[in-house]
Amino acid sequence: MKSNSISHLLKSPPSPDVIEVRGWVRTKRTSKNVVFIAINDGSTIKNLQAVVDPREGAFKEADLAMVTTGAAVEVTGNLIPSQGSGQAVELKAKAVKVLGPADPETYPLQPKKHSFEFLREISHLRFRTNTFGAVFRVRHSMTFAIHSFFNERGFFNVHTPIITGSDCEGAGAMFRVSTLDPKSPPMNPDGTIDWSQDFFGKSTNLTVSGQLEAELAAMALGKVYTFGPTFRAENSNTSRHASEFWMIEPEVAFADLTDNMDLAEDFLKYLIEWALDKCADDLEFLSKRFEDEEKTKKQEERSEFNLLDKLRFVLDNKFVRITYTEAIDILKNSAPNKKKKFQYPVDRWGIDLQSEHERYLVERHFRKPTILTDYPKEIKAFYMRLNEDGKTVRAMDVLAPGIGEIIGGSQREERYDVLAEKIREAKIPDESVWWYLQIRKFGTAVHSGFGLGFERFLMFLTGIGNIRDVALFPRTPKSADF
Ligand code: 4AD
Ligand code: MG
Repeated sequence: MKSNSISHLLKSPPSPDVIEVRGWVRTKRTSKNVVFIAINDGSTIKNLQAVVDPREGAFKEADLAMVTTGAAVEVTGNLIPSQGSGQAVELKAKAVKVLGPADPETYPLQPKKHSFEFLREISHLRFRTNTFGAVFRVRHSMTFAIHSFFNERGFFNVHTPIITGSDCEGAGAMFRVSTLDPKSPPMNPDGTIDWSQDFFGKSTNLTVSGQLEAELAAMALGKVYTFGPTFRAENSNTSRHASEFWMIEPEVAFADLTDNMDLAEDFLKYLIEWALDKCADDLEFLSKRFEDEEKTKKQEERSEFNLLDKLRFVLDNKFVRITYTEAIDILKNSAPNKKKKFQYPVDRWGIDLQSEHERYLVERHFRKPTILTDYPKEIKAFYMRLNEDGKTVRAMDVLAPGIGEIIGGSQREERYDVLAEKIREAKIPDESVWWYLQIRKFGTAVHSGFGLGFERFLMFLTGIGNIRDVALFPRTPKSADF
C-alpha cells in the first residue's frame, strides 16, 4: 500500500488501487449519513476530501467520533471522481484511524478566521492555517529560487561567520557574544571590562551582515553570495524590523553601481517570476486574503493593486532609477509634504528618508519600483564609494510598493587612502577591520554588492503586512518565545 502526498494525489486520476493518506483534519461534516473529512498534510494548500459511509466497511463509531479538527488521521481507501466541485478526485474511505486526537474542547484552532495577533500567541500551531501554510511553502520555494538564480549566473555561495569582531554597518546595534560571568567579569585597571579574557580573546558579537567577509571572497572568486541569518539589536518595534532576519548578499568584483542595479532588478524579477510559476495556488490564496484585508481599511489607505496584479506589474516595468537629490526635490514639493501630512517633514537635503517617504515615491509618485542612488555620505555606511562631489556616496536602495526599502547596497570604496580616512572618521577600531582595509593594497578593484532582506521580500511577495508573520518564530524586542 502506497502513502502519497495530497498534492500528488489531487493531480492523480481515479483508481481502484487502495492507498493510505495521512494528515490533519481541517473539518468534518456529516450529511445524509455520509461523513466528509477534509484532510491537509501540508504538501499543498488544498485539502483532500475523504468520504466515509459508515454503513459500508469497518468503521468504529468511537474512531469516527475522535475525528475532529486538528486530529492526525490515517485514511485508507481509493481515489474516485469527486461528486463535489473544487477538486477532481476524492478518497472513498475504507478505514479511518485516528493517530493523534485533538481534544475539541481545548484545541485552539477552530475552523474560523483568527487574528494574526492571536495566532502569534499560538505560533506552534499556526502553520496549520491556510495562510501560514502558504507563507512557509512560498518561503521555501524562494530559498530554492535564490540559490538557483545565483548558481545559473556563476556565483559561489559562501558561508560567512555568524560570530564576528567587527560591526559592518557601523551602527553599533549588535548582540554581544560572551562567556564571561556577567556577575563578575574581569576588569581593566580603568574600570572597563577586559574582553581579552573572553572566549575569543576579544569582544565579539552576532553579525549584522556578511558583507565585509563576502567582499574578500569576491576579490578572489569573482562573484559570490551569502544567504544567512543576521542580527540587529536596534530597538525598533515596527512591522518591518526583526532582531533576527535572513539576508542574501551578492558581491561582484569589477562591477560598478549600474551593474549592481541591473543585478538587483534581474534578481527581484527572477524571484517574482519563479513564485508566479511555482507557487500559484498559494499566491492565489494569499492574494484573496490580501484583498479581504484591504477591504477592512479606509478607502485612501487601500492598495490600488491586488497582490497578483502588483507582482505582474513589478515584473513588467523597468525600475525607476533616480538620485537621492532628485528624490528630495520631489518629496519637498509633494502634496503631503506641503500639507504637512508626513510625520517627518522633508525640509532639507541631508535628512534620512523614512518609509513614509519611500512609499510616497514608489506608490504615489512613480508607481513603480524605484532605486534611489547617491545618498549623502553622512547617512550611509563607511564602506560606500565616495563620489567626486565629496558629499555623496555610490549607495543604492531598492524601494518596493507596500514596504519601502527591501534592498540596500553600494559600490564599495576600493581606494586604500579614501577608505582609511573614512574608517578613521567613523572611529572604527583598526584591529576590527585591518584585513578589510588591507585588501585594498593587494589587487584592489572596483566592486559592488547589495543585501536583500529575505523577510522584507517575503512581505512584499505574500502581501503579509507584519514581518512577524513571515518568520517561523520571529525575534523582536521583548519577544523570543517558542
Ligand atoms: O541596508 P542594510 O543595513 O545593508 C546591509 O546590511 C549591507 N551590508 C548589505 C550589502 O550591501 N551587502 O540591510 C539590507 C537589507 C535592507 O534593505 C532590509 O531589506 C533588510 O536588510 N533589513 C532588515 N530586515 C528586517 N529587519 C531589520 N531590522 C532589517 N534591517 C535591514
Ligand atoms: Mg539600508
